[in-house]
Amino acid sequence: MTEILIQGGRIITAVDDYRADILIKDGRIDTIAREIHSDTATVHDASNLFVLPGGVDVHTHMEFPLGSAETCDTFETGTRSAAFGGTTTIIDFALQKKGETPKQTLDQRLAVAQPKACVDYSFHLILTHITPQTLAELPDLINRDGISSFKMFMAYPGVLMVEDADIFRSMRTVGNHGGMINLHAENGGVIQVLIEEALAQGNTSPKYHSLTRPRIMEAEATHRAIRLAELAEIPVYIVHLSAKEALDAVVEARDRGIEAYAETCPHYLFLTIEEYDRPGFEAAKFVMTPPLREADCQHALWRGLKFDDLQIVSTDHCPFCFNENPFGINRSKQLGRDNFEQIPNGAPGVELRIPLLFDGGVLTHRLSLNRFVQLTATAPAKMFGLFPRKGTIAVGSDADIILFDPQKSHIISASTHHSNVDYSLYEGRSVTGKVEKVFLRGKLIVDGDQWYGTPGSGQFLRRSASGRV
Ligand code: URP
Ligand code: ZN
Ligand code: ZN
Repeated sequence: MTEILIQGGRIITAVDDYRADILIKDGRIDTIAREIHSDTATVHDASNLFVLPGGVDVHTHMEFPLGSAETCDTFETGTRSAAFGGTTTIIDFALQKKGETPKQTLDQRLAVAQPKACVDYSFHLILTHITPQTLAELPDLINRDGISSFKMFMAYPGVLMVEDADIFRSMRTVGNHGGMINLHAENGGVIQVLIEEALAQGNTSPKYHSLTRPRIMEAEATHRAIRLAELAEIPVYIVHLSAKEALDAVVEARDRGIEAYAETCPHYLFLTIEEYDRPGFEAAKFVMTPPLREADCQHALWRGLKFDDLQIVSTDHCPFCFNENPFGINRSKQLGRDNFEQIPNGAPGVELRIPLLFDGGVLTHRLSLNRFVQLTATAPAKMFGLFPRKGTIAVGSDADIILFDPQKSHIISASTHHSNVDYSLYEGRSVTGKVEKVFLRGKLIVDGDQWYGTPGSGQFLRRSASGRV
């Protein structure tokens, strides 16, 4: 039996903050006590360190196809990068292609991830073709395969967008069996008109990505998504919420007792629309959907995190290199050099969520330490059917643990991160708070700059119900 003893650390969960030792046996937390002594365990000294539950990032896109493009992190490089940032569980996406049943989609995605994943993982299944057969398969997917959440797009007409009627049908089927629909909420039809107008006027630069995706069209779709869920009488989850007006729609619904939930992402908390004024094609690095917003949205998002109008911070890690080499044009922003609509949408960040939120949230007193843990580990695990196996430090839980130095500063740079992507949204930014050691089910996988994880050692997680928090 493998035994690990973490001694002298300050354990922080979503509700607790205390000093104790942790004994891990066979990958699970066996004992938590004031002082534990063992002759057989490997000891890790955690004095002066925080002991946090491993992060749960419920929005990543590893080797993910998006039109003719594909993200530049494989499951191996992307999950290694996640681990260096303290994330030990991801929920990625499996995209239903034309003619595929959801079960076929899941099986294919599993085959890609299984040999490579270095942290534990699951998928949200992206539903793009709603047929009676699709709907008939969903109950088994939820209750047998443990896929209890499904993403649907209200944007990208002709590519990923689905009609309201299909969203409503899916909500009813999924909701009645313990699942939840996650919505990409932007009014795709109207945005398409704006894109076509911009291009017709010769406006092809990356800035027009932002100018053609207005805040109120995110708000409109968010409101519509919530109303559909209200009628279907099931919970709903809005992904990558960025606009104040969209948050207002969530707040209004929650005040009425509707089970509307939402996540935001670090880039909306730390960056603004001004990034699109960068010269030349540089602004393409910041082309993600929804786009970066004005500073008033940031204030609203921080407030939403504090008062639980927003429940989760995920990364929407969707990395495309800036340069064509070495991974090719299809993994690069250069696809849209002459036309902003062709720039692959997405930005990197899986390694930075925990350090950024600690530095810019806890140290600035916007968030308490407990809330920080709740937003990055506990709430995502609860929302998506992984708790209490994941998301906390408790006897019986998986020993996914971070030893975190709250005083150590470091400079964010693409030259030192572990993703394949060749830039960072935060290049040169100094942050205080550093992930020192990471344990995945009791196995040390990160120790300072050293990597001890192995591709394929991440486990697929069958999840229980989503949205029942
Ligand atoms: O720009 C983004 N967010 N790309 C990833 C796909 C999505 O919509 O989440
Ligand atoms: Zn999306
Ligand atoms: Zn995404």
